[in-house]
Amino acid sequence: MAVITTIEDLRRLYERRVPRMFYDYAESGSWTEQTFRDNSSDFDAIRLRQRVAVDMSGRSTKTQMIGEDVAMPVALAPVGLTGMQHADGEMKAARAAEKFGVPFTLSTMSINSIEDVAGFTSRPFWFQLYTMKDEDYVRRLIQRAKDAGCSALVITLDLQILGQRHKDLKNGLSAPPKLTPKTIANLMTKWTWGIEMLSAKRREFGNIVGHVDGISDASSLGAWTAEQFDLTLDWNKVGKLIEMWGGKVILKGILDAEDAKMAAKLGADAIVVSNHGGRQLDGALSSIRMLPQILDAVGDSVEVHLDSGIRSGQDVLKAVAMGAKGTYIGRAFVYGLGAMGQKGVTTALEVIHKELDITMALCGERSVQDLGRHNLLVPQDFEGQWQQ
Ligand code: GLV
Repeated sequence: MAVITTIEDLRRLYERRVPRMFYDYAESGSWTEQTFRDNSSDFDAIRLRQRVAVDMSGRSTKTQMIGEDVAMPVALAPVGLTGMQHADGEMKAARAAEKFGVPFTLSTMSINSIEDVAGFTSRPFWFQLYTMKDEDYVRRLIQRAKDAGCSALVITLDLQILGQRHKDLKNGLSAPPKLTPKTIANLMTKWTWGIEMLSAKRREFGNIVGHVDGISDASSLGAWTAEQFDLTLDWNKVGKLIEMWGGKVILKGILDAEDAKMAAKLGADAIVVSNHGGRQLDGALSSIRMLPQILDAVGDSVEVHLDSGIRSGQDVLKAVAMGAKGTYIGRAFVYGLGAMGQKGVTTALEVIHKELDITMALCGERSVQDLGRHNLLVPQDFEGQWQQ
């Protein structure tokens, strides 16, 4: 087996192992994929300030996100269809996260259900909620997350309508995959995936199927979203959801200073500066580029996290040094999961942890709490290049 030293190594293995439609689902952005690409290239544009002759013994990447101890400022992001990337994918990713000491977030659009993950883990995980028209279903979903002991509700605000990803439409993305000559031909080349999938606990959306009456097609993310997601969502409704949950709340998908202020005003414990991994509004700026103005707008009134574009420990360091209290990885852990199941998620976390730890040392820092703008060299026009 090849030696794995980077997230890119995992991506290559993942591409070989997982059916094309699920690889494409993870690996695409919406429309032209400009925002998807910017998320990575904007991290690359930020450089690090090397310091020497600094005592670098006794380093620690430990910190807290929403008051929970974390081994490093990285959580696993909610990712739809994770259980199609590997049999029992959400259960395995959650267990890898728990063992590593970082939060796992279960997506509403997961294959394993809330109860499956709760039964397979021993520490509370976070549950991500999409806002849907069927209020009764939302109420029951929130209750299920409470009953499962979830320690935070992550409410996604940037997907009332699904950004178009061309490949998903062309591939006829569904869970489980519909058998057409094209999918059969591809599945035949992915037989280890198929054999493992035969014994998976579930192969359809576990939080939906069997929990909602009268849905016309729960196998397709696109059809379900169009039919069920709540186009009328507004801040008033967000407030009601926060009240209904009554626990810690993270509002995800914030990319604008005004929205960040609204989220803070509603009493969120954290916001996630995010463009949904470049999967929603193509043409939006990257999260890392929007982060400084959002931090300026909210001050200390809410904890600020960031996702979209994190593929390495260097990226984590850059986001934290810019002011984020925590980051999320989506694709980076999915690559690991698709490549090697639970072990692959652990490997992804280990790769990022090692990169973060060594990068901290070479920047002359011993703890993530001490990271700051002094560690970064940011292009002069980084924040001001695009003006309203
Ligand atoms: C759903 O969250 C997606 O981005 O596909």
